[in-house]
Amino acid sequence: MRKVKSPDLVFLCGFMGSGKSSLGKSLARALNYDFIDLDHYIESNEKRSLPEIFQSDGEQLFRKLEQKYLRELLKQKGNKVIALGGGTVCFFDNLEIIKEHGYLIYLRLPVKTLCQRLSKARKERPLLKDLSDKDLHVFVEDLLEKRKPFYEQAHRIVDSLVTKPETLLNELRKIF
Ligand code: S3P
Repeated sequence: MRKVKSPDLVFLCGFMGSGKSSLGKSLARALNYDFIDLDHYIESNEKRSLPEIFQSDGEQLFRKLEQKYLRELLKQKGNKVIALGGGTVCFFDNLEIIKEHGYLIYLRLPVKTLCQRLSKARKERPLLKDLSDKDLHVFVEDLLEKRKPFYEQAHRIVDSLVTKPETLLNELRKIF
């Protein structure tokens, strides 16, 4: 396995519901890095929830805030595992900048699994909250197809149904 210089930053990307935050927390613990969830970082700095931001200012402003707080995190010192939002790598030049600053991992899951997970967690996600189960499937399928070309540029693609978290942690410990 080829060794890479231990990155100061490890990023997790993938569709909503792909488990970026829960894997991110385990990964941070295993590597002894801090853990940051970009969505929570935005909410705590803006002092309002994502649904409130989307509701009052719309997605476009949210994307600007996402870009701004991502850049702010990149400037800070210290080792971090950062769970990105589902769309972060698909806007502006976020993907290039993320890859320049750290190691990007894509958590890949099939549409069916994503829909099973997301049907129970729609309320807190502004892009999904008004969708029926049937519409959810079409929406996830379409959006994933559009986002795949971005996600698949990650340094490492993890098939989350196949690779157990411990296996990934061991692999990363070896290559870093
Ligand atoms: C979004 C995903 C969300 C959040 C926002 C937009 C997206 O993050 O950033 O609601 O565009 O896919 P999670 O992937 O953590 O749910």
